[in-house]
Amino acid sequence: MLVSPSILAADFLNLGKDIAMLNEGADWIHLDVMDGSFVPNISFGFSVIEAVSKVALKPMDVHLMVVNPHKWFERLAGLGAANVSFHLEAAGERTATNIDEIQALGMKAGVVINPDVAVEKLFPYIGKADFFLIMSVFAGFGGQKFIPESLGRIAALRSEILRRGNSALIEVDGGVSSDNAPALREAGTDVLVAGSSVFKSANPLKAMEALRRA
Ligand code: DX5
Ligand code: ZN
Repeated sequence: MLVSPSILAADFLNLGKDIAMLNEGADWIHLDVMDGSFVPNISFGFSVIEAVSKVALKPMDVHLMVVNPHKWFERLAGLGAANVSFHLEAAGERTATNIDEIQALGMKAGVVINPDVAVEKLFPYIGKADFFLIMSVFAGFGGQKFIPESLGRIAALRSEILRRGNSALIEVDGGVSSDNAPALREAGTDVLVAGSSVFKSANPLKAMEALRRA
């Protein structure tokens, strides 16, 4: 599996050091943008993404937890983001348009759902989206407990993607650790997002490697 560590759990006073570590051991770098409206928390915005972009050697995987996500696609493209994912709950009827806009800017488009959104709601976008992000906690905070029901949702999405002969990736975010990584792989996950389990580990490089090999 690919590993996309979330810098929400990084040491912001020494972010350069943490990005250097991810340049060595991560596949992607996950950036959680929260606006205090779509989710009850505020994380960071363009100034941090820009700073990261200057030193990141791995693709930037931006997860937008904001209302009106389409407002920001151009700026993110300008900063060199590789992947942009936005919530179906925030985009509504604009979801297909958002995917087109992200792809037209040369980035990969991902559609995200929270644990209380039926996974079938993603099915209309199979064949359009480059990847899907299944939240295994409610978006808004790092360090929450993995919701085990996520496994069945991932498996359902994986089998529908296969049934349609599509190759979209499935990314999973929230409470991911080496404890649940094997089951996530089994369910059909391609990309693991991990904040706490990487950055709070005594050996983050080893933690990333363990996730990748799960
Ligand atoms: C939650 C974020 C996650 C979070 C993951 O809203 O989207 O990316 O940082 O953190 P952990 O791995 O600690 O659950
Ligand atoms: Zn995230």
